[in-house]
Amino acid sequence: YPTTAVHLNGTDLFAQYAQPRRHNTHKGSYGNVAVLGGATGMAGAPVLAGRAALHAGGGRAYLCFAGAPLPLDPGQPELMCRAADGFDFASAVTVAGPGLGSSDDAVRMLIQVLAAPRPLVLDADALNLLALHAPLRDALAHRTAPALATPHPLEAARLLETTIGAVQANRLEAARTLAQRLGAYVVLKGSGTVIGAPDGRLVINTTGNPGLATAGTGDVLAGLAGALLAQGWPAWEAALGAVWLHGTAADALVAAGTGPIGLTAGELVTEIRAQLNAL
Ligand code: APR
Ligand code: MG
Repeated sequence: YPTTAVHLNGTDLFAQYAQPRRHNTHKGSYGNVAVLGGATGMAGAPVLAGRAALHAGGGRAYLCFAGAPLPLDPGQPELMCRAADGFDFASAVTVAGPGLGSSDDAVRMLIQVLAAPRPLVLDADALNLLALHAPLRDALAHRTAPALATPHPLEAARLLETTIGAVQANRLEAARTLAQRLGAYVVLKGSGTVIGAPDGRLVINTTGNPGLATAGTGDVLAGLAGALLAQGWPAWEAALGAVWLHGTAADALVAAGTGPIGLTAGELVTEIRAQLNAL
């Protein structure tokens, strides 16, 4: 593949991969998403990812807490709250990492998730733990089901054992190298998100704006990607589609005056649903 990246047009992608809602279907037809995260005191991150998964069409969403579980999300009681310990991660596409923390329990749960033969999204603390623990990287390398890693520049720098400056100075190369090293699709986030594949493919996304520079928007992206995977999208296309739609929703919010200043991750969740239904 060429060293230059192609730019992403998401409309064609959704025309090809988004499933129309057929009459004779039920929630089981649209997949289960499990979010592994939520160390004690960090419940907001998995809540945002789970809400995004439901609003992006996932059939069911579970929040699996590494720490003390919330009894429920009062703002989104459709989310099923569980302790991560004992959850069957083979029953869902897992989004691992939002607010996960770095406890020994978190590492143990992540090992179970990596062993499950299902597509997987790795974000936030799941990536920080991968950078710290070689056995987790080995488990990732030996998986057969696809994995999608969604680092921001600091998380990418930790995984590449380099600095944010070095990552940002050559974002294309960083995304490609990381994809090859992890054996995973990589979404290197930030203005001009780069999506890279282990085989060297690179794509730059042009949707999105600085309204997204606010807490929780990365959790929303991870949940959205999980929902597309749960609905049967192939991993590369799910990465491209999630990044494009996330940015498109942010652009629509700004056009409507809901940002860029003060745009919130929760508003992004409902706008993603609006954009999906308008496609
Ligand atoms: N232009 C376009 N997109 C942007 C911009 C920008 N200027 N700034 C941010 N974004 C997008 C990114 O591309 C990404 O999709 O917003 C999202 C931000 O994701 P994160 O950096 O993961 O931010 P957040 O959701 O707040 O997560 C922060 O999670 O990763 C951990 O350690 C991190 O605890 C922290 C928390
Ligand atoms: Mg994040």
